[in-house]
Amino acid sequence: MSLLLSGIAELTTNDPVHAHNHADPGDALLGVVRDAALVISDDGLVEWVGPADRAPDADERRDLGGRAVIPGFVDSHSHLVFAGDRSAEFAARMTGTPYDGGGIAVSVAATRAASDDELRALVAARVAEMRAQGTTTVEIKSGYGLTLEDELRSLRIARELTPHTTFLGAHVVPREYASDRAAYVDLVTGPMLAAVVADGPTALAESIDVFCEPHSAHAFDGDEARTVLEAGRAAGLALRVHGNQLGHGPGVQLACELGARSVDHCTYLSDADVEALAAARGTTVATLLPGVEFSTRSPYPDARRLIDAGVDVALASDCNPGTCYSSSIPFAIALAVREMGLTPAEALHAATAVSGRSLGLDRRVAPGQPAELAVIDAPTHLHLAYRAGVPIVRALDLPRA
Ligand code: NIG
Ligand code: FE
Repeated sequence: MSLLLSGIAELTTNDPVHAHNHADPGDALLGVVRDAALVISDDGLVEWVGPADRAPDADERRDLGGRAVIPGFVDSHSHLVFAGDRSAEFAARMTGTPYDGGGIAVSVAATRAASDDELRALVAARVAEMRAQGTTTVEIKSGYGLTLEDELRSLRIARELTPHTTFLGAHVVPREYASDRAAYVDLVTGPMLAAVVADGPTALAESIDVFCEPHSAHAFDGDEARTVLEAGRAAGLALRVHGNQLGHGPGVQLACELGARSVDHCTYLSDADVEALAAARGTTVATLLPGVEFSTRSPYPDARRLIDAGVDVALASDCNPGTCYSSSIPFAIALAVREMGLTPAEALHAATAVSGRSLGLDRRVAPGQPAELAVIDAPTHLHLAYRAGVPIVRALDLPRA
């Protein structure tokens, strides 16, 4: 049974075939169709997109009453597999204690102590929370287990909820290896990685990630990060990097050199970093995580500078118990618009099309694509940032999807 969605005041397709209809650069970027309709097939694929007055017949109809429809947000960076919280650490930061990654050990202890069922319920609730705010696709990292068994368990639980899982055994050096960092890097790149890919390179994890941060005593320097990424690549995983979060460092250059799909944070960038990212356009995306700057009282990265230099810019939540316990992409969009120089259209494009590309996904709303959509209780996407903090966007549930 096909479904016709009508009453769409503004449809964002991310499809360049609709760009030529617009003088406004934002509408062109988003491939906006006004007074639109959509037909969705039985198997959840978009069958037809266009102006409502030309819509074909379908078995069922749903009128959205003049709302805006957008591609569902792609949250391409999250750490949802954890137990406990670190609200006291947040409160301390708000009165001046800097973030240095040391609190990750608190979440590792709580996560190791949780049962499978407890963890599963926590992750499922966080994914549902995301969906209720318009996110239809999520990447989930491990990284609060840091033993072979606990990293595998984290990935298995994440895999029950998304195909986009990332092995982050190299999150920090756990306390039990503090006096022998090299042994921990050997564990991550040897037995842990071997176990992650044992059933095939992408059976449990799609990507490998590393917290490359010489400014943190707990994270990994450039050489250690290179070792981790090269091992992951040799094992068949795509690469992602946490880079340049706490200060200038080697993460961005390393990610671009190794052809990572994405380098995330990018809070501190030199001119050479921006040039490397621009040269890596089409391969390596700069994923900005403004909820982290908010929650760590850090300066926001200059997203305008990146876009103007030709860099592919994505937005994601980084939802995690330490640096940003917010799963809200609308919040990230509002910060990107208010604090980082993006237009509302650029921010929406970053949180859908570009974020999707960093996971190897095509997020156009076009015939043949999955109907992963979100609906806004407003006539235009501009309300996402304009009505910051108001719950006006949610994933669109289809009867048979
Ligand atoms: O993306 N930077 C490293 N990892 C997370 C924070 C993890 C934590 O503090 O629990 C991040 O910011
Ligand atoms: Fe992160």
